[in-house]
Amino acid sequence: VDVHIALGPVGDRTESIYRQLSAAIVDGRLRGGETLPPTRDLAASLGVSRTTVSAAYDRLLAEGFTVSRRGAGTFVAAARTSIATSRAPRGGTVQPRALWDSINPGLGTHDPAAYDFAIGVPDAGLFPLAAWRRNVARELQSDSAVMRGYGNPAGLRRLRVAIARHIGLSRAVRAGEDDVILTSGAQQAFDIIARVLVAPGDVVAVENPGYPPVRALFESLGARVVGVRVDSDGIVVGELPPRAKLVYTTPSHQFPTAVRATLDRRLEMLSWADAHNSVILEDDYDSEFHYGAGSLDPLQRLDRSGRVLYVGTFSKTLLPALRIGFIVAPASLAPALVAAKRLTDWHTDTVTQGALARLIDDGTFAGHVRKANRVYAARRAAILAGLAREFEEWLDVAPSTAGLHLFAAVRADRSLRVDAVRDAAAAAGVGIQSVANFAVGPETTQSRRGFVLGYGSIGTDNIAMGLHRLAEVFARLS
Ligand SMILES: Cc1ncc(COP(=O)(O)O)c(C=O)c1O
Repeated sequence: VDVHIALGPVGDRTESIYRQLSAAIVDGRLRGGETLPPTRDLAASLGVSRTTVSAAYDRLLAEGFTVSRRGAGTFVAAARTSIATSRAPRGGTVQPRALWDSINPGLGTHDPAAYDFAIGVPDAGLFPLAAWRRNVARELQSDSAVMRGYGNPAGLRRLRVAIARHIGLSRAVRAGEDDVILTSGAQQAFDIIARVLVAPGDVVAVENPGYPPVRALFESLGARVVGVRVDSDGIVVGELPPRAKLVYTTPSHQFPTAVRATLDRRLEMLSWADAHNSVILEDDYDSEFHYGAGSLDPLQRLDRSGRVLYVGTFSKTLLPALRIGFIVAPASLAPALVAAKRLTDWHTDTVTQGALARLIDDGTFAGHVRKANRVYAARRAAILAGLAREFEEWLDVAPSTAGLHLFAAVRADRSLRVDAVRDAAAAAGVGIQSVANFAVGPETTQSRRGFVLGYGSIGTDNIAMGLHRLAEVFARLS
């Protein structure tokens, strides 16, 4: 390992080298088994004689910080590391701004359950791995453009062209390549949009229940975030705060209640934004997958005045790990959004962007989405059948037509302790979520009593047994 050592102009150099290396070992920066640099190299890099470094090394050895193996070099002793790692974590006197005390980013990772109806994750087993490997290898060839330094903050042109064409066909989004800005997942799209449009103290409306990381993000930027109720037609426009600068919404598959906003509600939302000089952030995170009923035009297509920012992601269609999302922005906002992207992280990984452009261009992506859609349709059908078979007296299933999860509300005439069911289900190896975890404020409305069931990661064959075990928990606790 390369160790940072700073030598002042005066003082005992052997002592100084000894002290800095022993400190690195004690506080765990150098771990058991790691090699110290050869004395000759360290001496050369510090501009001191080799004898000076050797004397420090001899002392470390004598005191048991290191062990030496002839011909192989000097290693950190294992025993010293265990002392280091058992020490308390590094403290510090610097505190974050007070606002961060109350920021809860939400939705951490969890240990997978045996029957895991996890939400927000696709099936990694469906990922077109062979094609992806091939595409990444091609991008990494030394004559490839992505190897030649930094890229365009807006994203690789060939990927923007591919995405514009793809979403034009699959989602009827109006976009040319210059309207598309690549981001590191949808989450960064929300961040960049908020930086460009929202000042501290501004009012921002989000859905309640809704997607916690979005709410927390806006709060972290100093916005006054107002949660707005969702009914069976979508976000309740009549309850939007009149001064909202920005309205975040998931009209095609509400997160987490799975509601698809009606056409009337969509048009009402757009008129509201016009009348209040507000902007709509349309998060279309998972509706590439849809079942039966067809899909309604996104707000972005219905918009006549350039007030809608459309955000998409490849986290559900491919993998969340790729961190690729995008914004389709009105021309009036694109330059500022690209500037904000440049200041945030310069650009999203161009190797991944290039590989994705190839995947879309040669038709593999569309084929993959069609295939995955068939798999998810079968899982969704299995869940709906199981819910109808075993839960009819307890749950009303929302008729969702898209995405990777569905929502089942506890029937109004049933008293069921949702959190207790969720916890007992977890103990029985069944992972489900309570919708209340995505809501802020008192639990008053029906939409806040119920369960969210994802089918991105649970195998089709596990669904019936998972639901059966869940029914046993219901019977026990009701
Ligand atoms: C409502 C919603 N929006 C967006 C995302 C995707 O986020 P990202 O693209 O940052 O992975 C998710 C993922 O769970 C989500 O549930």
